[in-house]
Formats: sequence, structure tokens, C-alpha cells
Amino acid sequence: MKGVVLAGGTGSRLAPLTKITNKHLLPIYNKPMIYYPIQTLVDAGINDILIVTGGRNSGDFLRLLGNGKEFGLKHLNYTYQEGEGGIADALNLAEHFADNQPICVILGDNIIEGSIRDAVTAFKQQGRGARILLKEVPDAERFGVAELRDGKCVGIEEKPANPKSHYAVTGIYLYDETVFDKSRVLKPSRRGELEITDVNNGYIREGTLEYSFLDGWWTDAGTFDSLLRATNLVAETEKKRGNVNATA
Ligand code: G1P
Repeated sequence: MKGVVLAGGTGSRLAPLTKITNKHLLPIYNKPMIYYPIQTLVDAGINDILIVTGGRNSGDFLRLLGNGKEFGLKHLNYTYQEGEGGIADALNLAEHFADNQPICVILGDNIIEGSIRDAVTAFKQQGRGARILLKEVPDAERFGVAELRDGKCVGIEEKPANPKSHYAVTGIYLYDETVFDKSRVLKPSRRGELEITDVNNGYIREGTLEYSFLDGWWTDAGTFDSLLRATNLVAETEKKRGNVNATA
């Protein structure tokens, strides 16, 4: 399976931090943000990875990541998103790379404690359709929210004022090769973007969307509060794992 890290956008919610650099290059504790989603893919055995960047600082990704040697990779692929078309628009740029194979898509600001290996295995067994990863959260209105009924996900609402559940749709998605047919026909949402939630609802309509629950903590890092939370969670975890000196 191939992996796609979506790291475009202007990061406007983090201005002025993002005035002179891309959100995904900002630090989360001791590493740039984009290191975490790349590591999540590599830990799940996904080694053929495309980074979708954009904006004025896209060249910095190449300087930072090179061919992915720090992650044990031999090669990294890059592509460039023009403008601010949203997540599904960024995803469309991965069609050529995907080459009719299944893909694991991860948003560049999604950081997890655990592993997605089990979900990847479950998706391989599933054979077709899509699989999303859900996490129970106290502030579901900030995310895509899954409505679950009898073990099925029957609908996803993007940032609803009155969420139908506490299950946030995390920014980690497993898709078969039909994902591009579904995203190509999307219309911009109220915020003027092509929404990944609409892609997922396309799979729900088709009856081929499954879900897994994500173990361990999960956070995005696209707002000041979530950026701080991400840094604190990573710091705690790294210290617990003995990867850094707690007293230094
Ligand atoms: C995006 C998705 C949303 C998802 C979230 C996860 O939101 O649109 O469905 O729950 O990522 O991080 P955004 O970060 O664009 O607000």
C-alpha cells in the first residue's frame, strides 16, 4: 500500500506563526510536525510515500526531508498544490502516484500515540471501499463526526453545531482506487473547499465504508490550543518511553 501525507494549505488559523513558514514545518516538541505523520506511515509498513505540499515554502520540505533517510526510506515523492482548494483537492494530486493501488492518506497535522497497523491489516482484508479511523473526543464539533448505527457508520457531518456522536473522524483514511472518481465530482463546501468528509460520504452511499477505533491519544495541531496540546502529549510520551532526558 502507498501512503500520502497532505501538507498543503495556508495554516491561516495559526497566523502569524504561518506567515513565513508552512504549518507542517512548525515544531511539535523536538521535531517538525510533518515528521510524525511520516513516521506513522513507516511504522505501519508503508514505505512508498508522497508528500503533497503547497504555498511559498514548499522547497523547505525537500531540504528538510530529502529522500527520507531519517525514516529509513530510500526515496520520497513530492507534489505541489496550487491555491487553497481543501483536503480533497490536495488528494486529487495523488492520483498519478497512486496508480490504481490502495492508499493510506494522512493529514500532515495529525499526530498519534499508537499505531495504525491493525487498521491497515483490516483494510487489506476488507479488499475494497474505504476505512476511516475514529476517536472518541469531548469536542466533536471541531471535526468530522461519525454517526454510528448497529456497527455501521451511516453518515459523517463536517464540524456540526450539534454532533450526533462523540466520535471524531481522524485525519487518517484508507481508500481503494475509486477514491479519485469520488473526489473528482465534489463541489466546494460552505468554506469554499473540497471536503474529505464528502469523499467519505460517497463511500457510505455505496455501502463500502468501514471503520476502526484508534488506540492511544490522537490530536490535530492546526489551532493554537491543539498545537500546544500536541507538543505536551508528544513531550510526555517521549519522556515516558525514555527517548529524552526528563530533567534536561
Ligand atoms: C479536517 C477534516 C475533518 C477531520 C479533521 C481531523 O479538518 O475536514 O473531517 O476530522 O481534519 O484532523 P480541518 O483540519 O481541515 O479543519
